[in-house]
Amino acid sequence: MSITREAELIGMKKASEAVALTLKAMTNYAQPGMTTKQLDSYGAKILSGFGAKSAPKISYGFPGWTCISLNQEFCHGIPSNSRILKEGDLINIDVSAELEGFWSDNGNSFVLGEDIHQHQKLIETSRQILYKAINNIKGGVRISDIGHLIETEAKKGGYKVIKDLTGHGIGRSLHEEPREIANYRDRSNLTRFKKNSVVAIETFISTISTYTETLNDGWTLVGTKGGFMAQHEHTIVVTDSTPIILTEMNEIWN
Ligand code: CO
Ligand code: CO
Repeated sequence: MSITREAELIGMKKASEAVALTLKAMTNYAQPGMTTKQLDSYGAKILSGFGAKSAPKISYGFPGWTCISLNQEFCHGIPSNSRILKEGDLINIDVSAELEGFWSDNGNSFVLGEDIHQHQKLIETSRQILYKAINNIKGGVRISDIGHLIETEAKKGGYKVIKDLTGHGIGRSLHEEPREIANYRDRSNLTRFKKNSVVAIETFISTISTYTETLNDGWTLVGTKGGFMAQHEHTIVVTDSTPIILTEMNEIWN
């Protein structure tokens, strides 16, 4: 969406506060021994407390309130009573929701407890890339140039980017124009970021794979070549200078 009135900015700030604080609380609440369903139910309570509804649930019929993906699962992992969190797990939580007609989206990858499987470098790389990408976005910048920046930074760290997952416009629904904000230079995409538009910027930094495939559960995405992936996501408003980071309360950069 494009922000044209103060009320729209306020609406986006409220929806973003709900998803950001839910993501932060879930990240802090995750403990070894807990099931992903317990973690999701905790998030559902917080979102409900804001009056927010799960975006993947109401948009796509996703069987959970939030997406929780473990280790070799990249994203869209289904909360389950049989998935138990373990020390050293690479966890991705993605929280998106609708509140009073406004939609916001954010995500965080982190290691649970001690980093016994050495995932931290991948996570740090993804975090820093999101920071750098967002700080290079302003009205008039080509979307493909930000994709190029993301891929270049990933390569510097010895990583790859996922080509079939992208950031996206957001605001009046979960996925809007521009539909694809890729993590590589997509030469066919001549679109530029527009001032006052609301977009979700997300990294997809991976160890081995560059494409994903869906597991038999119909939702969970893994890499076609396996390996691990880190994703960090903020919803932002594009301006003439540094963007407004609507989901900054998630503290994924801290
Ligand atoms: Co998103
Ligand atoms: Co998301």
